[in-house]
Amino acid sequence: MTQKPAKLLVLPGNGVGPEVVLQFRRIMDWFSMHRALPLNIDEAIIGGASIDQYGVPIRSEVLQKARSADAILFGAVGGEKWDHLPVLQRPEASILTLRRELDLYANVRPAKCYSTLVDFSSLKPDIVAGLDLVIVREGTSGVYFGTPRGRDVSKTGEVFAFDNQYYSTSQIERICHFAFALAAQRKGRLCSVDKANVMETGALWREIFNRVAKDYPHISISHMYADNCAMQLVRNPKQFDVIVTDNLFGDILSDCAAMLTGSLGMLPSASIGAPRANGQRDALYEPVHGSAPDIAGRNIANPLAMILSFAMCLRLSLARPFDADDLEKAIEQVLSDGIMTADLCGPDQSPTSTTGIGDAILGVLNT
Ligand code: IPM
Ligand code: MG
Repeated sequence: MTQKPAKLLVLPGNGVGPEVVLQFRRIMDWFSMHRALPLNIDEAIIGGASIDQYGVPIRSEVLQKARSADAILFGAVGGEKWDHLPVLQRPEASILTLRRELDLYANVRPAKCYSTLVDFSSLKPDIVAGLDLVIVREGTSGVYFGTPRGRDVSKTGEVFAFDNQYYSTSQIERICHFAFALAAQRKGRLCSVDKANVMETGALWREIFNRVAKDYPHISISHMYADNCAMQLVRNPKQFDVIVTDNLFGDILSDCAAMLTGSLGMLPSASIGAPRANGQRDALYEPVHGSAPDIAGRNIANPLAMILSFAMCLRLSLARPFDADDLEKAIEQVLSDGIMTADLCGPDQSPTSTTGIGDAILGVLNT
């Protein structure tokens, strides 16, 4: 029986998005051809490019395509050109809409320090060597989406703005269950991060986490305030296995964790939804780095976070763990051969281009 092709939707976006997506597509084509991986690929315009062409960050047709895809591969969005627009009309609204509309509540952000990159971290090598942690960030609620939000004028005529941090019991429960299940597949340690000392949502978060923990007696749990967690990530990041936290803290802490690994250009992520009737989950894969407008269009961006996001897709959406292993091994090989983009190069190393990294990975895969 021939395998039904998986439906993938590719959304390059803007900034460095299209450049890193180009390299991931070459790698994807390789797997499709050499590993009998039948794929049905569609591509659509999103973010800044969509604002320029259609006046909105994401069109309903694109959202519809996203809903019917087995997996979405997302590049990056954002840039100065659109910074004057109201928050909900900016390129960033496209990714937030996708997370929210597809209910992609579990944002999984692994931070792994490759042995060849130990010296590129801003921390001392012994602090980061062997680092392998995952941040599970809640992706569909919290202050990113809470209402009411907006701007108003006070009685004294002063303009003020407000956001609303919101979490319901079921929203906290499901992300905690997801994180416990992940910790069970790893080293069995889970740290819940909140601000239960100052926030109502934090106090509820902690209460629900402790309740869910009773279902997972074999997982060793801890709690940390978000500010302390930021400090501990820099002081001793290897104490962590899995961290579970809310949308905003997860955004901040994942950038911090990314940098421990040597470069923000190395971090993939997956946003996973609830299981559908057929057991499959909606999923979107994207690099943690943003659109990096300062380096866009110069063929110097690091495509590895995007390509590693495809490895996550192979593993989580396409049931191809061995192909994912091979891709990750090829990337490790390229790095240990000293082939790296400028973000990873020391002063006396010559950087490889974005395209050059794609070439090098294909070279290893072909051997
Ligand atoms: C991320 C990004 C996004 C976020 C932006 C682009 C809206 O920073 O994925 O971490 O804040 O979630
Ligand atoms: Mg971020």
